[in-house]
Amino acid sequence: MTVVISSITDLRQRLLPVRRDGKTVGLVPTMGALHLGHRRLIELARRENDTVVVTVFVNPTQFDRNADLQGYPRTLEDDVAICREAGVDFVFAPDSAEMYPPGGQLAWVDVPALTEHLCGPARPGHFRGVATVVMKLFQIVQADRAYFGEKDAQQLAVIRRMVRDLNVPVEIAPVQTVREPDGLAMSSRNRRLTAEDRKTATTLSQALFTAEAIVRGGERSVDRVQAAVLPLFHRHPQIRLEYFSIVDAETLTPVETIDRPVLIAGAMWLGATRLIDNVMIAPV
Ligand code: PAF
Repeated sequence: MTVVISSITDLRQRLLPVRRDGKTVGLVPTMGALHLGHRRLIELARRENDTVVVTVFVNPTQFDRNADLQGYPRTLEDDVAICREAGVDFVFAPDSAEMYPPGGQLAWVDVPALTEHLCGPARPGHFRGVATVVMKLFQIVQADRAYFGEKDAQQLAVIRRMVRDLNVPVEIAPVQTVREPDGLAMSSRNRRLTAEDRKTATTLSQALFTAEAIVRGGERSVDRVQAAVLPLFHRHPQIRLEYFSIVDAETLTPVETIDRPVLIAGAMWLGATRLIDNVMIAPV
């Protein structure tokens, strides 16, 4: 049975006997609008833990644009139905006042070195909001394992580093990106695309796969990979490319030569919808 809970105290009470009995807890933090990518996270959490908690909270502190926060899909009823079907034990769906009580948030978690590139510059404060809310969820749930999608590679890197540097006793479980049959990475934002933009949206994954093939074919120059791939975006005037970068997989700083594991990542806009995606490559 899936129990929906909105209070921190209530959730803690419910989890006390679970932990007292030595059972493991798996946490899947989400902002709702659950799709097959989330289902994959939940499936793994279900398989690897005695108790599964899915959190559904559209975290205001990680939105850099108010219109994005207001327009973010909120589908709690459907989300709970998906969780029920997937055998989730607890859905934690607090409101903003529960997570950020009146009086303001004075303590924040920041991992600045990992947020200087990729999405960081265009989304000031975003990763600080993510790290802070995830730390709050870790403190509230005290899970053994927490599941995050590799689609949000920079978020995953920030959370891993936060856990390492602040000795948070949780294992971070990365989960492979789930894609639509045409390659588009699953995202809650995809449902905001018009039919026309949905077709163009595949340009990002196509560019990433093309770059990956070029690197696997032996090319090591970032400039040459970019020169081969960027025209794919320029074919579509409706695309606003925010970045298409190749960075060191660990430090997330740009490289000139692909001589170590790298993350090839991109962000682009179609209308008011921002899409991100990435591939990881370890050249041999
Ligand atoms: O990836 C997300 O959905 C969010 O950034 C997260 C991790 C749930 C924090 O709000």
